[in-house]
Amino acid sequence: MQICPSILSADFANLERELHRIAEADWAHVDVMDGHFVPNLTLGLPVVEALARVSPVPLDCHLMIDDPDRWAAGYAEAGAASVTFHVEAVRDAVATARSVRAAGARAAFALKPGTPFAPYADLLAEVDMVLVMTVEPGFGGQSFMDDQMAKVREVRQAVERRGGQIWVQVDGGVSADTIGRCVEAGADVFVAGSAVYGAEDAGAQVRALRDLAAGHRH
Ligand code: DX5
Ligand code: ZN
Repeated sequence: MQICPSILSADFANLERELHRIAEADWAHVDVMDGHFVPNLTLGLPVVEALARVSPVPLDCHLMIDDPDRWAAGYAEAGAASVTFHVEAVRDAVATARSVRAAGARAAFALKPGTPFAPYADLLAEVDMVLVMTVEPGFGGQSFMDDQMAKVREVRQAVERRGGQIWVQVDGGVSADTIGRCVEAGADVFVAGSAVYGAEDAGAQVRALRDLAAGHRH
């Protein structure tokens, strides 16, 4: 049960300090948006490189960008320990996943809410994690989409058939109210932006979410 606060909801003028607020987390989730794949623009390679130098926790980069084939490995080289690309944007998913792993990071693919898992099931052979989006990618603070839990179950079953080594991540609207449903559906890695950074004590919120997740485990 791993908690990944998303710095999308952090104070962008003080990112080093914001990373230290979540030093007890398992990962820092970094949302890279290009204003094309999603209608929002955040940060890119130079910022990820700078964050990797000062972060007390490993970086989990979620690429919401066109042409991840071209950019994904660069994020691994910049110091991200995990790099996720979207299947809706990638042209050659196998080559892209392999390029990320060759650069020394964990590779993952992400599915938008409207994207089914089945056509991508064979890709499990190439990745370390699958991200099931529980909001439309682009913005923090949106409502959790309960209807994605069927997809989480489907991914979990496929992962178990392969031996259970691959992580199943959820991202969007994850909070103390919704994390239990994600655990029950089979997720084991939880991105939470507003729920963590909106809390007075972000560290305590990370612990609380982790305890809740552990409590729902079956
Ligand atoms: C949305 C991003 C999420 C976002 C989650 O496109 O991928 O990582 O930061 O924020 P919350 O937890 O507030 O929904
Ligand atoms: Zn994200």
